[in-house]
Amino acid sequence: MVKIRIGSIGLGRLGLTHAENIANKIRHTELAALCDMDEKRLHETADRLGVVNRYTTFEEMIAQKDLDAVVLVSPSGLHTKQIVAALDAGKHVFSEKPLGVTVAECKEAEKAVEDHPEKVFMLGFMRRFDESYQYAHKKVAAGEIGKPVLFRAYSQDPEKFIEGGIAFAAHSGGEFLDMAVHDIDLARWFTGSEPETVYAIGGCYAHPEFGKYHDGDNVSCLMKFRNDTMVYLFAGRTAPHGYNVETEIIGTKGILRIANVPQKNLVEILDNHGVRKECSENFLERFDSAYVREMQEFVDCIIAGRKPEVTVYDGARVLEIAYKCKEAFESGELLKF
Ligand SMILES: NC(=O)c1ccc[n+]([C@@H]2O[C@H](COP(=O)([O-])OP(=O)(O)OC[C@H]3O[C@@H](n4cnc5c(N)ncnc54)[C@H](O)[C@@H]3O)[C@@H](O)[C@H]2O)c1
Repeated sequence: MVKIRIGSIGLGRLGLTHAENIANKIRHTELAALCDMDEKRLHETADRLGVVNRYTTFEEMIAQKDLDAVVLVSPSGLHTKQIVAALDAGKHVFSEKPLGVTVAECKEAEKAVEDHPEKVFMLGFMRRFDESYQYAHKKVAAGEIGKPVLFRAYSQDPEKFIEGGIAFAAHSGGEFLDMAVHDIDLARWFTGSEPETVYAIGGCYAHPEFGKYHDGDNVSCLMKFRNDTMVYLFAGRTAPHGYNVETEIIGTKGILRIANVPQKNLVEILDNHGVRKECSENFLERFDSAYVREMQEFVDCIIAGRKPEVTVYDGARVLEIAYKCKEAFESGELLKF
């Protein structure tokens, strides 16, 4: 069986997991190169995963002739430039979200993908690969809950990682671009529709540091979609109990809830705090298998010569919507798309 030779850039919070998955869990692949500007991190990881080809710049890595594909887990502001360069160098590309940090960058990425129709491009909206979201999506698509009336999603990072959030704030693009993009993607995927109007509120309830980036530590928005679905999204950084991602879809004939009580596993603890279940600690724990399944899909698409369901246009559209939400948050006005 053919082996897809992958080079991965970025060995930070998520990049390490993608590299480990490619090396150990993804079928028909070889982790054939690693890149990170942090040399210590690069060599430690490459030694551990048995990777010989190591680079501190992306340009050097994509010059490696026998690489079939690259995986971008670099900072968001580098994605577009690296997507264009990798496609031009003849590589298939998996990029972490967001596609770019401006709408103009997303257009550039769209053009690069269109210019290389023979290459597979996939964006990392991994929630679509979570088994519970996939199960729920099938039910909604089959009409089991009738016509969607309300899509409600909460995504909260744990307060205990707030220092990282503050350090990342200057480059993250803000809570709508960094966190709410996942829920914007899900809202479009579940409703099959696009937003018409948005109103957004929120603020710095516990951490004024975000204010200087015109961001909040907790933000939310209400959107009306063209098919009349009400979409309510809440994104926050101060969950006291863990990584809280929950979704609800109310339809005319039924309601679906996904991880309504986000929990680590099926264990219940009875102790001097009462009877309780623990919550997932972070995105790596909650979406552990989704990261594996999405990467397997990328590789399977390359081998089968087919295109992934998550396209460059999804990435561009979601970023445009996130920007409008950010604009609505900053202006306090009801905005039209
Ligand atoms: N899909 C998800 O659930 C999810 C979760 C977290 C992060 N992300 C995305 O993944 C990307 C990476 O996020 P992270 O949290 O892992 O970041 P991080 O800051 O933890 O890691 C980034 C890594 O890239 C390296 N790097 C930075 N600039 C570089 C350069 N010019 N050349 C080579 N290496 C460079 C850094 O040394 C670091 O190791 C971001 O775009 C983020 O939005 C997605």
